[in-house]
Amino acid sequence: MTRILSGIKPTGKLTLGNYIGALRHFKDFQESGEVFIFIADLHALTMPIDPNELRENSRDLAAFYLASGLDPKKCTIFLQSTVSAHAELNAILQNYLYMGELRRMTQFKDKCSKMNDSEIGLGIFAYPVLMAADILLYDANIVPVGEDQTQHVEICRDLVKRFNHRYGDILIMPRAQVTKVGARIMSLSDPSKKMSKSDPKGDIFLKDDEKTIRKKIMSAVTDMVGKVNYDPENQPGVSNLLTIYAALSDITPQEAAEKFKDSGYGDFKKAVADKVLEELLPFKARYEEIIASKTYVDILNEGAKKAEAVAKKTLKRVQQAVGLLSLND
Ligand code: TYM
Repeated sequence: MTRILSGIKPTGKLTLGNYIGALRHFKDFQESGEVFIFIADLHALTMPIDPNELRENSRDLAAFYLASGLDPKKCTIFLQSTVSAHAELNAILQNYLYMGELRRMTQFKDKCSKMNDSEIGLGIFAYPVLMAADILLYDANIVPVGEDQTQHVEICRDLVKRFNHRYGDILIMPRAQVTKVGARIMSLSDPSKKMSKSDPKGDIFLKDDEKTIRKKIMSAVTDMVGKVNYDPENQPGVSNLLTIYAALSDITPQEAAEKFKDSGYGDFKKAVADKVLEELLPFKARYEEIIASKTYVDILNEGAKKAEAVAKKTLKRVQQAVGLLSLND
C-alpha cells in the first residue's frame, strides 16, 4: 500500500497558502493509502520561538488537521517530538548530507542571508536532515507539499541514493507531490513574494475573522490593466487571486479567468472573498469545536504509538545497515 507522509511546522499562524498548498489535500490520500501526518515541532525550534507560542501553535495545528477532514481512524496524526526515532535517525543521517549542498538550500538562504554565522543555529542549517529522517522513517512513497518544500524532498532523494549505494536497498525513495493549482500562493500585498506565516499584511490566516478576510482580499494589490486575465507575469496580483479561487473550486485558473472575464476588479475580489469564506468559515467552526473539546489529546497519544511502531522498525534497519552493534540479536 502506498505510504503518504507530510507535516507542517507550528511556527506563526497558519495561512491560506499552507491550506491550499498542503493541508487541504492530506485527507484525499486517506482512502487509497496509509497516511502519516505530523506536527513538525522540532523543526519549529530551528528559529527562535516563544515556548508558550509553540505549545499553542502545536495544539492549533492538531485541531486544524482534524478540522481539515483527517480521520484518526484512517490515518496517523502525531507530534514529531513524541516519537524519539526522528531524533535518532537524524543523528545517523546527518553524516550523509554535506555542508555544500545544505548551504545551497533556498529556505536556508532566504532565512539566513542577512545573518552572521555567529547567529545561525545549527538546526536551521541541518533542517533538511531532520526532514529526511521524518520522511524515511515511514518508508514514505509520496510527500504532498507546496512548491517551496520540493527542494527539501529532492535533497532527501539524493541522500537515499547515496545511502543505498553504500549499504544496499535500505531506504525507500520518496517523491514530492505538488498540487496542480495553488502550490505557491503569493502575498496579497506583494504578489512577487510567497504568502508566508511571517507576513501579517499580505497573509490570510486561517484564524482570521470574516471581516478581516474580506478586507484583506478587497485590498489585495492588482494592476492598471483593469481586466481579469490569468497572466502571472504581467498581472501577478489578479493571477494569484484567480489561483486562490480556482484551487478552492477545483478548476483551473484559466477556467476561473473565463468566468470573470467581464467582471470589474471589485466584483471579482468579492467573489474570491465569498469563495474563501465558504471554505474557511465551516473549517474554523470545526476547529473551534475541537480546540474546546480537547479531543486532539487522545488522538495525538494514540498517533504517537502507531507512528513509533513503524518508525522503530526502520530505525533498526538503518542502525544494522551502518554497523551499530545490537547486543540482543
Ligand atoms: P511549512 O510549515 O513551512 O509549510 C507547510 C506546508 O505548506 C506549504 N506552503 C505553501 N503552499 C502554497 N503556497 C504557499 N504560500 C505556501 N506556504 C507554505 C509548504 O510547502 C508545506 O507543504 N519543512 C516543512 C515541514 C516538514 C515536512 C517534513 C513536510 C517537516 N518535515 C516532512 C513534509 C515532510 C515546513 O516547514 O512546512
